[in-house]
Amino acid sequence: MGNLYNHNRMLALSELLGLYRSPCRVAWVRDKKLLFLSRRLIAMHKRYQQSMAGNKSLNAALKAKQDEFYTQMDDIAAELKHYRQHFRGKVVFCNCDDPYESNFFKYFALNFNSLGLKKLIATCYDGSPVQGNELLLHFDDWDSEPTKIAYKVEISEVTDCNGDGAIDLSDVRYLIQNDKNVLSRLRGNGDFRSAECVELLKQADVVVTNPPFSLFREYVAQLMKYGKRILIIGNQNAIHYKDIFNLIKNNRVWIGYKFGDMSFQVPDYFEPRATRYWQDDNGQKWRSLGNVCWFTNLDISKRHEELDLWKKYTPEEYPKYDNYDAINVDKTANIPCDYDGVMGVPITFMDKYNPEQFEIIDTSTVAMPKGAPYINGKRIYERILIRHRK
Ligand SMILES: C[S@@+](CC[C@H](N)C(=O)[O-])C[C@H]1O[C@@H](n2cnc3c(N)ncnc32)[C@H](O)[C@@H]1O
Repeated sequence: MGNLYNHNRMLALSELLGLYRSPCRVAWVRDKKLLFLSRRLIAMHKRYQQSMAGNKSLNAALKAKQDEFYTQMDDIAAELKHYRQHFRGKVVFCNCDDPYESNFFKYFALNFNSLGLKKLIATCYDGSPVQGNELLLHFDDWDSEPTKIAYKVEISEVTDCNGDGAIDLSDVRYLIQNDKNVLSRLRGNGDFRSAECVELLKQADVVVTNPPFSLFREYVAQLMKYGKRILIIGNQNAIHYKDIFNLIKNNRVWIGYKFGDMSFQVPDYFEPRATRYWQDDNGQKWRSLGNVCWFTNLDISKRHEELDLWKKYTPEEYPKYDNYDAINVDKTANIPCDYDGVMGVPITFMDKYNPEQFEIIDTSTVAMPKGAPYINGKRIYERILIRHRK
């Protein structure tokens, strides 16, 4: 069986290579030659597979490096002000957040009492290449800053330790330095999927952070699995991911307030680029992204606001797609108020989505043949398919 397989494979290879010319005359030479060639081809294929595997892990490493976008305190505060009522008596977990560098940790530490938090937990991933210096934490047995070491911080009380009447970072530093139990090393690398981080996740009521973009799907799936309340930053493109879209469609996750442009500090190794990149006076590198938003399942008033609509449907202004029974709407503000069927709207609609006013049907990527909307043979941008609620 094996021989037959090898023989057939040689024949196939020889045909492919155009070598199979005179089987009767020099059969054994041919077979030897082919065996040699097939071995070389198999070796080449193996090398190719190895290099592909190498490329894959290199790509993963490159992707992970591009995850290091650090959120500004102003952006966190501007969003969080809409959710204050959700935090009283709650355990907050920031699970992609090194206190040295994360403004999420700082925000919750500084607002611990005004939000009425029960506990704040932050875990740091040892793959993070950036170190901050504002909030200096030390373990007893460390003589240098604990970079590249995964650890967790658990805060249950923040008092005005230095008696200056204000809760500030020096109080948090004092608190940590004076209670060994608050800051401790993790056994593993701080990966949000690791067993010890999952144990911490189980304790949490609300998870708030900006997670690694490259692991967004997996990250959200884990939060859903453990039934957590969430407020996290992500890319608007994630709305089109099938699993994320299903959560949105089924009203298990929705979009928060900020929907658009956001600037992030990035590590020194980020290469300069022509757009959406700059260095400030201190040499700090920055990147901005035009399509960022918050994903949450905490109730917010925005989600109950009705979108005012004034346009009336006409077949001329709202053509139907070639490949799906729905009309095309180019701008969210132009959704016709009197059309009963399915409408394809731009992704910006998600910023205005009120589940009492509209029903989400699907995305063009999933629902439409060819995975995209076409009008008169021309492909147009992806659309969210919606309908008015009666
Ligand atoms: C987009 S950055 C945001 C950092 C911080 N949350 C903030 O908003 O400033 C994502 C962070 O997740 C960390 N990270 C990457 N992979 C991780 C993993 N598997 N588990 C936990 N954290 C991870 C990265 O090192 C990076 O610091």
